[in-house]
Amino acid sequence: MRKNSVYIFGASGHGKVVAGALISAGYTVCGFFDDDVVLHGRKFFGEPVLGGQEDFAVLEAPVAVMGIGNGRIRRMIMERFSLVQWLSVIHRTAWVDPAVTVGGGTVIFAGAVVQPDSRIGKHCIINTGATVDHDCVVGDYAHICPGVNLAGNVTVGAGAWVGIGSQVIQGVTIGAHAVVGAGATVTRDVPEGVTVVGTPAKPNRTE
Ligand SMILES: CC(C)(COP(=O)(O)OP(=O)(O)OC[C@H]1O[C@@H](n2cnc3c(N)ncnc32)[C@H](O)[C@@H]1OP(=O)(O)O)[C@@H](O)C(=O)NCCC(=O)NCCS
Repeated sequence: MRKNSVYIFGASGHGKVVAGALISAGYTVCGFFDDDVVLHGRKFFGEPVLGGQEDFAVLEAPVAVMGIGNGRIRRMIMERFSLVQWLSVIHRTAWVDPAVTVGGGTVIFAGAVVQPDSRIGKHCIINTGATVDHDCVVGDYAHICPGVNLAGNVTVGAGAWVGIGSQVIQGVTIGAHAVVGAGATVTRDVPEGVTVVGTPAKPNRTE
């Protein structure tokens, strides 16, 4: 295997963005895994798709990054393969202040900014161009979508999904597994598991 070689689980759009982040950070992608059998033996983003979960399971001590964006599937696979070294990757153009902690398996994409004393958990996604200001806490498996702005001292619970382009004012807590709809402006705490949409964000009528 080539130096700094990494596998990506998920030959998807998200997987491509992960590949781009890895390459920008000086790694070599040596192949993809995906449960879609149609992809097996084909090339994806210039690299072979080597098989699915059962093929991944027989690799000896692989170094890998999760390339699936869907929170539920992502978590299921990462928990099944908890002994795999899930790498954390920061795109070369992201700015992560030195006084930030980033958990294993987390990916931080192009143009994202994470400011001092924020703590980003394990297996999170800080997506393209998102900003996380000072003293935020982002729980394990949370997804901060492209273009989101978290003001200072925001807490995002484990597994929460903060939708594309949303804004969260300072000091707010978004509960575990809550969902913030695309483009929302969150001005108050969001309870665990609740979906909010709009400006100011309110529980979705379908809740
Ligand atoms: C909030 C969200 C999860 C709701 O999804 P859903 O439960 O499938 O909701 P539906 O599409 O069935 O819409 C239900 C209602 O909520 C409204 N709604 C949905 N998302 C909304 C949003 N972001 N802002 C305002 N209203 C929204 C719909 O217009 C609809 O209203 P109606 O009943 O008057 O027609 C989803 O719309 C969303 O915003 N997801 C974020 C997507 C994202 O960030 N993608 C980036 C991936 S990297």
